[in-house]
Amino acid sequence: MALPLFANDILTIDIGFRYIKILQIKRKKNNSLVVVNFGIGDTPKGCIKNGAINDKERVIAEIKKVMHEQNLDAKEAKIVISGTNIITRIMMIDKVPEEEVDKKAWEEIKESLPINFSEHSVDYKLLGVINENGTEKIKLFVTAVSKKIITSYIDILNSLNLKPVAVDTPANSISKFFQKEVKYEESENWIKKKRRIKSSSSNTYAVIDMGSETTIVNIIKDKSPEFNRVLLMGGSNIDNAIARTLELEQRHMDKAERYKKMYGIAVKDPNNELENTCCKTAKAVVDEIIKNIKVCFDFYQNRCAGETVSRIYTIGGGSMLKGLGDYMEQTLDVPVYPINALTIDGIEFVQGLNLEKINYLINAIGVSF
Ligand SMILES: Nc1ncnc2c1ncn2[C@@H]1O[C@H](COP(=O)(O)OP(=O)(O)OP(=O)(O)O)[C@@H](O)[C@H]1O
Ligand SMILES: [Mg+2]
Repeated sequence: MALPLFANDILTIDIGFRYIKILQIKRKKNNSLVVVNFGIGDTPKGCIKNGAINDKERVIAEIKKVMHEQNLDAKEAKIVISGTNIITRIMMIDKVPEEEVDKKAWEEIKESLPINFSEHSVDYKLLGVINENGTEKIKLFVTAVSKKIITSYIDILNSLNLKPVAVDTPANSISKFFQKEVKYEESENWIKKKRRIKSSSSNTYAVIDMGSETTIVNIIKDKSPEFNRVLLMGGSNIDNAIARTLELEQRHMDKAERYKKMYGIAVKDPNNELENTCCKTAKAVVDEIIKNIKVCFDFYQNRCAGETVSRIYTIGGGSMLKGLGDYMEQTLDVPVYPINALTIDGIEFVQGLNLEKINYLINAIGVSF
């Protein structure tokens, strides 16, 4: 019997407030990953409250439906937890000999994290040594997740008869994704455009996940996650604002979302009154989101001894908002790269897959590594 070319397929699942993303992935012998197929389902309304899944049955039913429709039949799964449930902190400890780092790290974590340690799963990564006012300090990236939340995600996988292989955070899956070499097909126009923007050569970049209820700001330096903040604002705030401005009823919220997708924030036809109104309304929300992103960048630089962010990658459905990339570049003065414009070493897609939706899938791809 011929040896199978691939090891077992796995499913990866990212349950967002608006869409559920499910991918089937194979690992090739050379270790590169192949996305075999994927499906995107609608998260049933009202199933997720404050980041926790409070109506598992309806979520499970939707996942089953998508799996069936797209023929996703792997038996093992990895899942990403919703960002709003996770505590992340950058901490500094005095530099101590290597064998004492772990003890010192846990002392600091126990002292400064305001959580019940028996109810949380806590983890840290060493980010290296920095010099703070003449003293050498070790920088830590600390993550804490409630054990109850982890169990609820495992329950979902069990109910789907899937063997849970990993439950991970968005910050980890994003940083794993960006471990890979990210490449651009840089056209002449593209290069000219980028030259107009001040670009620092630091190896620090931001990955901004523009979701429906949340915008997650990740800062990655030398491929390690250094900062993660979940802003409780996203695409649905734009829908709500458009609905309010147009005085649409709650049940016509899908209309507001449609206008948002159609018009974005850059007016194309100045004579179209509806377009002008929607763009202006959407832009006001985007301004608020960008203001908060800027606060994160400043905090990272001033309080976490971080470097200037040299580029921004945008992911998530909200990153498709028309005119967003250019507007972000102007306001933040940092080059913005939408994820759909790149190719990534070590990740392949089966021919024929519709890759227009790749920006939705980054969390679910990252968790597969
Ligand atoms: N073309 C588009 N223009 C603007 N917004 C879009 C477009 N396509 C999708 N969106 C928005 O993207 C959001 C959904 O993206 P995504 O699936 O990344 O969010 P989510 O993961 O469900 O939410 P969260 O991350 O907050 O849990 C919705 O607000 C949707 O309206
Ligand atoms: Mg999301």
